[in-house]
Amino acid sequence: MVKIIYIFFIIIFCSLIFRGLLAEPLLDGADFDYGEYLSGQCLTCHQNSSDEGIPAINGAEALYIAKKLVLYKNKELENEVMQLVASALDKEEIASLAIYFNSLEK
Ligand code: HEC
Repeated sequence: MVKIIYIFFIIIFCSLIFRGLLAEPLLDGADFDYGEYLSGQCLTCHQNSSDEGIPAINGAEALYIAKKLVLYKNKELENEVMQLVASALDKEEIASLAIYFNSLEK
């Protein structure tokens, strides 16, 4: 009996780890329409093509965008403007912006 309980816990434990590996928490709660709505504030700087030190982010991987925004938010990437922009965004807003910009043509 003890053995069965033991195996049961191992199975639960493994499935939790597996779920953690599959899910991408950075993009949790992403909402496309919300992303489109929020993107207005980004478009004043981020245009279709890179210029004057502002990289184009249209069509970039959603995960790439989200990771960068988190890094600016945590001040692990140096850029005052983007640190300020990202610090005003919460997790859901970052995820929404990431999937929205990913959907745009490069
Ligand atoms: C005032 C101008 C400005 C605004 C507004 C702005 N950005 Fe930026 N963004 C920049 C600049 C400049 C950089 C490059 C910073 C650097 O060199 O690290 C950048 C970099 C980025 C990067 C990293 C791109 C890469 O390939 O390294 C992402 C992602 C990004 N911005 C997303 C956004 C999003 C999303 C918004 C809107 C919420 C936004 N930005 C608003 C100016 C702006």
